[in-house]
Amino acid sequence: MAFIGHQFCRAFSSSTLRSVAIKHVVIVGGGQMGAGIAQVAASTGHQVTLVDTSEAILAKGVKGIETSLKRVVKKKFADKPEAGEAFIEKVLGCVSTATDVGAVVESADLVLEAIVENLKIKQDLFSGIDKVAPEHTIFASNTSSLPIGDIASVTSRLDRFGGLHFFNPVPMMKLVEVIGTSSTSQDTFDSLVNFSRALGKTTVSCKDTPGFIVNRLLVPYMLEAVRLHERGHGSKEDIDVAMKLGAGYPMGPFELLDYVGLDTAKFILDGWSAMDADNPLFAQSPLLNKLVAEGKYGKKTGEGFYKYK
Ligand code: 3HC
Repeated sequence: MAFIGHQFCRAFSSSTLRSVAIKHVVIVGGGQMGAGIAQVAASTGHQVTLVDTSEAILAKGVKGIETSLKRVVKKKFADKPEAGEAFIEKVLGCVSTATDVGAVVESADLVLEAIVENLKIKQDLFSGIDKVAPEHTIFASNTSSLPIGDIASVTSRLDRFGGLHFFNPVPMMKLVEVIGTSSTSQDTFDSLVNFSRALGKTTVSCKDTPGFIVNRLLVPYMLEAVRLHERGHGSKEDIDVAMKLGAGYPMGPFELLDYVGLDTAKFILDGWSAMDADNPLFAQSPLLNKLVAEGKYGKKTGEGFYKYK
């Protein structure tokens, strides 16, 4: 697929860097996170290549971008529907797709992965493209639970490797956590910060520690809600209402767990409890384990703590 909206992409490329001016971003992983990141990058004029293993997954990812753009445009261009249509066309024109990552990295300034949370698969991806990507290309991971340093360790560009952790839904959530390992160069870190800001996001600096900032606080909070419910101290509906109306959270912990994915939450928790089994914050939850074992992952499977149409 060609860059139909080339002019737009170039005109709005706005990452101004001492080191790498990030204009062309290769995003590996066409799921919810990858497609969301592709959307905001293309919306801010970057050239985006979205990569996944099959055309069907890519088509679904692009369709998701289009649907989300329509929601954005409905508000942003409320009085000018034609300008809204034109904007969608331009943004989609900045997104190309590919199934062979090795074939599209030659002009990439940044390769960002948002694939399955499996260290070996992420390492295989980066060790493969490390051999073919240009010298200046920065690699980054959107992992929510794995150490960035472990992923980077298989590459020859430890100084040009960092973490960019986005939040779901990416077009709405204003934060990006920027993670530097002990080997990430200052120029690389600055490039990642500037790129995130060019996407319209606010950044926070994180160390390469489990859960960075947000998940380290959010996941134990959500799991504590499940344990409170398991002890019979509150219904999930009441706990959700309590946190929304009593603490001003947009979603209650059970709604948010269903939104994030119970499989993802369990994966994060399991990784942490393997490292620190005695930490009560990382204790297993029989209810969460049961739902995951039954394939009830939340919104994406139609059922988690709640049922969805
Ligand atoms: N794309 C574009 N716009 C979207 C959108 C999307 N995917 N999702 C929501 N919106 C916008 C739309 O403009 C929508 O307006 P519309 O009704 O005209 O389409 C507006 O948001 C309001 O959406 P809704 O009416 O559907 O629902 P809410 O008012 O509850 O907002 C929400 C939805 C923004 C998701 C809000 O509930 C929220 O902020 N929830 C908390 C999300 C959160 O905490 N995310 C972080 C999870 S942790 C994570 O991702 C890290 C990972 O590593 C686990």
